[in-house]
Amino acid sequence: MVNVRQVATRLKSALLADPERFYTNETGAWVAGLPAPQDIRVTTGREPFWINLGYWKHVEKVDDTNVERVGELFRSAQAEMARLLARTAKLGPGDAVMDCGNGYADQDLLWAEEFKPASIVGVNITPNQVRVGRERLKLTGLEDVVRLEVGSATALPGGEAAFDVVFALESAMHFRTRQDFLREAFRVLKPGGRLVMADMAQKTDRESGAGLRQRLRYRYWRGLIAFPEENVWSTERYLSELRRAGFQDAKVESIADDVYPAVNTAIVALRGMTQLEKKPGSTSLHQVRADVHRAMRMTPEQRQWTALFNCDEYAVVSARKP
Ligand SMILES: C[S@@+](CC[C@H](N)C(=O)[O-])C[C@H]1O[C@@H](n2cnc3c(N)ncnc32)[C@H](O)[C@@H]1O
Repeated sequence: MVNVRQVATRLKSALLADPERFYTNETGAWVAGLPAPQDIRVTTGREPFWINLGYWKHVEKVDDTNVERVGELFRSAQAEMARLLARTAKLGPGDAVMDCGNGYADQDLLWAEEFKPASIVGVNITPNQVRVGRERLKLTGLEDVVRLEVGSATALPGGEAAFDVVFALESAMHFRTRQDFLREAFRVLKPGGRLVMADMAQKTDRESGAGLRQRLRYRYWRGLIAFPEENVWSTERYLSELRRAGFQDAKVESIADDVYPAVNTAIVALRGMTQLEKKPGSTSLHQVRADVHRAMRMTPEQRQWTALFNCDEYAVVSARKP
């Protein structure tokens, strides 16, 4: 029987497309066990709470023979995404960093320890994530390097020209709007400062060719993940928005082939293994392997991010303030 309350809640979420609500109530961490926001527990500060799709180029892919190791493989790919952005930004000692939409701060811990910037200010719209992130900083002794604030990437704290690097790791598609964020990023960067993002887009405009029913469907699914319509950009539009905000050397470099196929399979494995762990008897290892096997054979158009959100591009976006 259709649960009217569930349908109403989903419709409300889709209409509001509100990231704070989404990350406070609905989506926790994309790691082993898929913990909901209210299930996140910090013990050592080092448990992974990443929420990104991962950069899988140099990581063993999840397939129907290794589903038991999905947690370990997923977190390696997620950490690789953070490293890729750091290398693109040429992050290093002395850099003052602003990190927008930093989840539970996994990337800030990694950057602080592996790349040794002078400071990182993380800005996140979800208070519960900031609280968890602060606990982790205390436990890992990184409070002197990383400071976390509740706030929006569209109204950044701090004065003009204060940062060498601004990051947005798989978060800018949520910002209302991404255009406002680009203006803010430009304002807070020093001359010569670098903007580096991992973000979803469309290789070419896919919206205008779609029929009304299809567009409403995309709108619904994007709304559910708090991806506002104003942020549905093609690569070309992305480049022109970066230039319009004043940036130079704008690049939108595709890593879609090293993200979508692998994560599409990994997420099926992660959901299956989580179900097996939380409700033993409701599925089997055999079933999880069969589901993963099917996911491995999906065409690009069948994969979640294209089929539901109409995004066939995943890119490292970078630019420089003149
Ligand atoms: C997909 S998660 C990525 C988290 C993290 N970068 C990672 O890789 O684990 C998107 C993040 O963007 C944050 N976010 C969404 N809208 C925001 C806004 N307007 N300002 C700051 N953070 C925002 C969410 O709270 C969430 O932490």
